[in-house]
Amino acid sequence: MFHVTRRLCQRRHPNPLSASLAIRYQTTSSYHNTGNTDDKQYSEPKNYSASPRFIFFGAATVLGYAYYRTFGIRKLSADAQFKDLAPPERKDLPIYKRDDVKKHGKGSQRIWVTFQNGVYDVTDFIESHPGGDKILLAAGDAVDPYWQMYAQHKKSEVLEILEEMRIGTLDPNDIKVETKKVDVNDPYANEPVRHPALVVANHKPFNAETPPTLLVDHFRTPNEFFFVRNHLPVPDVDVSKHHLQVEGLGVKRPLNLSVDELKNSFAPVHITSAIQCSGNRRANMNAYKKVQGLMWKETAISNAKWTGVRLRDLLIHSGVDPNDKQIKHVHLEGADKDPTGGQNYGASIPFEKAMSPETIVAYKMNDEDIPRDHGAPLRLIVPGVVGARQVKWLKAIRLSDVESPSHWQQKDYRVFSASVNAGDELKWETVPSIQEYPIQSAFCIPQPGAAVSRSEETIDVAGYAWSGGGRGIIRVEISTDGGKTWQTADIEQDPQQDQEHMWSWTLFKASVKIPEGVDQMELVVKATDRSYNTQPETSAGIWNIRGLLNNAWHKVEVKIKD
Ligand code: HEM
Ligand SMILES: *[C@@H]1O[C@H](CO)[C@@H](O)[C@H](O)[C@H]1NC(C)=O
Repeated sequence: MFHVTRRLCQRRHPNPLSASLAIRYQTTSSYHNTGNTDDKQYSEPKNYSASPRFIFFGAATVLGYAYYRTFGIRKLSADAQFKDLAPPERKDLPIYKRDDVKKHGKGSQRIWVTFQNGVYDVTDFIESHPGGDKILLAAGDAVDPYWQMYAQHKKSEVLEILEEMRIGTLDPNDIKVETKKVDVNDPYANEPVRHPALVVANHKPFNAETPPTLLVDHFRTPNEFFFVRNHLPVPDVDVSKHHLQVEGLGVKRPLNLSVDELKNSFAPVHITSAIQCSGNRRANMNAYKKVQGLMWKETAISNAKWTGVRLRDLLIHSGVDPNDKQIKHVHLEGADKDPTGGQNYGASIPFEKAMSPETIVAYKMNDEDIPRDHGAPLRLIVPGVVGARQVKWLKAIRLSDVESPSHWQQKDYRVFSASVNAGDELKWETVPSIQEYPIQSAFCIPQPGAAVSRSEETIDVAGYAWSGGGRGIIRVEISTDGGKTWQTADIEQDPQQDQEHMWSWTLFKASVKIPEGVDQMELVVKATDRSYNTQPETSAGIWNIRGLLNNAWHKVEVKIKD
């Protein structure tokens, strides 16, 4: 296997965010050394070393706490998590409405949060929070859904810290989340409950990104944080009744399998694979020159472990001859239906890719049943290929000599030349459908407009890189002088995969020197894959009217304060 160096960041960290990053890399590397990924839960740092995380924390007012350490973060079921941990009754304090708390959100003078029925002013704690400014994700709102994901908060010591900041009690009528009135005429009335951290790009259909600072926290993105790209209302599929059809050209024995039959008749396989929307980083391309589409930023990408059965096993079982030269494409149909009476979502992949061992019909995502937003109960996983082909709520597979007639295969997800402009006729049949993704990388940390103090001398950066077709990332480089000189970043990769079959993403981090004598710096990142493909410097040559596949160097401006 390709050798990956992981220089661990052991130095002192000037700010909580960089400390939290350092620890994550430490712990994920110990997780790497323990062998088989498939037996591990994702995002579960096991043996924390106690010291570095408390370097700055010791300076905080909360003393008598620093001995606290080593614990495993278990992924607990949401309801079980904080049952035995409740804020005390405080009749001496005022009662607040949820709306009062909302007025103290991000950007306001005093930041309030709630935990169960407690109301807290956390303004003075933010600087010393071990998890850095992630605490602001809950500003003006409840910390509960975040603590379910970051279970290190589940202990009486954290509650003690919190109670010192207690200012009131939540009105009992406001503790239960108000149930929204259901409009039976709204095709989107039955959408799943989602994590409040998701950054919504569009509500109906639901499209949302992962907050960048949370994305790089986990090599396998927790299901709750996995970016969501829906085209239609989310179907509510009854698992016990759902069937998967296999039919079409070259199929000698058409199949009609229940989910249980599928699980019980074929060998289960696991694969960790990233999914990226073809519109990821569209907003960056739009900044270069206006494009059309949903303005995704940099985090319409996530990485998960999928469990399912090989599509090739299903096809061979249905009597398909792997060498059948007539079969060219495999159509996939989802259970999500256009509410205006139109078609179901559909797409297709080349027959050859369908027969490749990495392509699976998945029923588990990170060892849990696939959540509704991600295709419950069955979703096709086509590693190395754009997200649009990895059809969710999968209900039919049809073999053919032509591509899927679906709108999303024929009239979307195709990249025109830069000479095609807004208002021009789009001749879809002249360009092929997107399948394999080109090479990509982007920063998640820092965010544009972040400020760093000159006295810190370095700034910690982190992000992801990925390339389609299983082409491994061989390096990620960072520049602070617009690309004249480059520094190689440390990378973290899936130890189960090699450079010719790298379906998982690569996470990177680096400590970058702050240039002298300037009050602003531009960070640039680019990656190189196993085929020595690298990213274009700007969007100039890849600009296309739909804003697809933007993989220009990602640039982030940071202010330097004295
Ligand atoms: C009033 C609100 C909060 C308080 C009092 C608080 C307190 C703490 C404390 C005491 C720790 C150290 C736990 C330990 O390692 O023993 C911690 C860690 C952490 N917190 Fe919070 N937290 C709050 C809100 C949040 C929110 C909303 C997030 C959002 C994701 C968050 C994310 C984290 C993370 C990621 C860590 C781990 C840092 C690391 O070990 O690298 N916290 N928090
Ligand atoms: C598949 O089988 C189920 C259960 O036996 C049945 O209800 C359904 O109509 C079948 N579908 C097709 C297309 O044969």
